[in-house]
Amino acid sequence: MYSEKVLDHFQHPRNMGELEHASGVGTVGNAKCGDIMRIFLDVDDDGIIRDVKFKTFGCGAAVATSSMATEMIKGKTVQEALQVTNKAVMEALDGLPAVKVHCSVLAEEAIQAALWDYAEKHNIKIEGLKKPENTEE
Ligand code: FES
Repeated sequence: MYSEKVLDHFQHPRNMGELEHASGVGTVGNAKCGDIMRIFLDVDDDGIIRDVKFKTFGCGAAVATSSMATEMIKGKTVQEALQVTNKAVMEALDGLPAVKVHCSVLAEEAIQAALWDYAEKHNIKIEGLKKPENTEE
């Protein structure tokens, strides 16, 4: 049912934890299952994501997609991070079962919420970034 990559990222999640002095933090909730994902970004003055961590209270697919998504945006610019869609994360994981697609949407939304928070705090406009919905405090 799950690919090797999904199992690997679930069993050995990359970038799990939190950043004390994050430049941006995004927390989103999944209305369907109640699961919550939080992403912390450390962005430098050139707009490059130097570090990223996640905390996910959710299913295995949510943990695996958080792990893969953080790997995909680390070292990228904020603009590039915006291009990391749930589809791209799923492809990088060699797919997810259809009933688990919504879990990967949470990862995309959490990244965008963290980018939004970063942009707000630093008075920056990230082209193409929309105000996130489903955010949780
Ligand atoms: Fe809730 Fe996967 S079932 S995020």
